[in-house]
Amino acid sequence: MDDLFLDRRTFVSTGAAAAASLFLEYSPLEAQSVSDTRTEPQMVNIVLSVNGENRPIQVDTRMTLLDALRNKLLLTGSKKGCDQGQCGACTIHMDGERRLSCLTLTVAAQGHKITTIEGLAQHNGLHPMQQAFIDHDGFQCGYCTSGQIMSAVACVREGHAQSDEDIREYMSGNLCRCAAYPNIVAAIKQARTEMEKD
Ligand code: FES
Ligand code: FES
Repeated sequence: MDDLFLDRRTFVSTGAAAAASLFLEYSPLEAQSVSDTRTEPQMVNIVLSVNGENRPIQVDTRMTLLDALRNKLLLTGSKKGCDQGQCGACTIHMDGERRLSCLTLTVAAQGHKITTIEGLAQHNGLHPMQQAFIDHDGFQCGYCTSGQIMSAVACVREGHAQSDEDIREYMSGNLCRCAAYPNIVAAIKQARTEMEKD
């Protein structure tokens, strides 16, 4: 029993000493400085081509394109829904293709042509997809709408809007909590006809 007690006492005291030495080697002060080094922002000056204009901005290298558009360039049409690439509310076009701006670093967007919902209108009028969403009541609260429209335009350009099934499949990354889906499909079919005339 004594042996057992001593063994336990030796074990506990050895463990405590080891923990103490670890603590001394890696103090909270050092931990703080390591953490500060890791999170220190690195700012860069870049120029983004957005909606046909060159926009110089200074950004943290970790900033997403969505945050840069909304907070730096004040283009708030692109919405932050999930911020994790799951809802499609932040969809924009990069070089004409749909892109989730919440999953794109701003620095990676340099040298590409970015279009947001604010730049979609043509010839001082609404884009046919914007008009079709109004005509078919394709939105209720409107939170998902800019992402839906950007995705819908790309969907037609990709040739993925030939049937209702096709449209549902290729628009499935854009969620609508108001469930305006049937009206969105109707809007896309109308706009497809208009877009194909151009
Ligand atoms: S905010 Fe980008 S996918 Fe939801
Ligand atoms: S219209 Fe409300 S989330 Fe789609």
